[in-house]
Amino acid sequence: MTPFVPALPEPMATAPTSRRSATWKLCCGALLLGLAPALSLAQPKLGDEAYQPEVGQPGKDVVWVPTPDEVVKAMLDMAQVTKKDYVVDLGSGDGKIAIAAARRGARAHGIEYNPDMVALSKRNAERAGVNNVTFVQGDIFVSDFRDADVITLYLLPSLNEKLRPILLDMKPGTRVTSHQFDMGDWTPDETRELDGRRALFWVVPAKVEGDWSVQIGTGARAETLKLSLLQSYQKVSGRMVWGTRDAALDQPSLRGGRLVFTALDANGQRNRFEATAGNDGRMSGTVIGPNGQRRNFTATRS
Ligand SMILES: C[S@@+](CC[C@H](N)C(=O)[O-])C[C@H]1O[C@@H](n2cnc3c(N)ncnc32)[C@H](O)[C@@H]1O
Repeated sequence: MTPFVPALPEPMATAPTSRRSATWKLCCGALLLGLAPALSLAQPKLGDEAYQPEVGQPGKDVVWVPTPDEVVKAMLDMAQVTKKDYVVDLGSGDGKIAIAAARRGARAHGIEYNPDMVALSKRNAERAGVNNVTFVQGDIFVSDFRDADVITLYLLPSLNEKLRPILLDMKPGTRVTSHQFDMGDWTPDETRELDGRRALFWVVPAKVEGDWSVQIGTGARAETLKLSLLQSYQKVSGRMVWGTRDAALDQPSLRGGRLVFTALDANGQRNRFEATAGNDGRMSGTVIGPNGQRRNFTATRS
């Protein structure tokens, strides 16, 4: 596969080897001015004399360009990274995103194809004085990162789209943040513009599309309703059949595993449903009736 270059503002194909150096001088001159902090990490120390990376050097599927510090900060801010999180950077380069996450107290991990960059990342982590970060040599397309709470990316649109089904299969609520590049028709939940660069953010939605049987309460007063949901990523719409009434849901919203909507009961009264959905065919939560009374409900796929 021909590697691409994530030059800013637009990606470009890596030139043949003979033209690569000149192309990068032209394309990345301005970029390099903003990279002094990242490059300063590569000063000869702790064995760096054996290997010095070059911005724009080829990678397996995309070249190495480090994310500027202010974009790293925005990405980790949007994902609200805390010490409770396990953060994985896919294509971790010199390790700076994973190290920044570790500095926030998170457990962090970088997956990088280039073994020299993996070794450099480990040296950079040592320099930074963080020990809650690990780096591994590997191909992100055959690696298992399902345990992550937060995924960070600086790849290319085509690679993001290739990763998209894998990301969408992660646990609902997993946060994903990308420097510069989008996810095709999976629109971001938040975008920040930073001096011509972008930081984009998504929350992995639960898979809720389909027909559900909803049971409110238990025993003699239990009610069974029918819920039908349509879903396009985090956007949902649907209908509820409640007794003889069949009505569209009002203001349905889905963020991670949290599904909220308002439905009309058999008397035409508004009821607010607040649910937690997994990808296991189950949903449960609270329905708040027109007088504020709260009842528990569960739902299973029908
Ligand atoms: C644009 S750089 C981003 C580096 C880092 N994430 C950052 O934002 O500073 C992309 C990195 O992905 C690595 N890479 C390319 N293809 C890869 C693959 N299939 N698996 C793992 N790493 C890969 C490259 O070697 C490069 O270091």
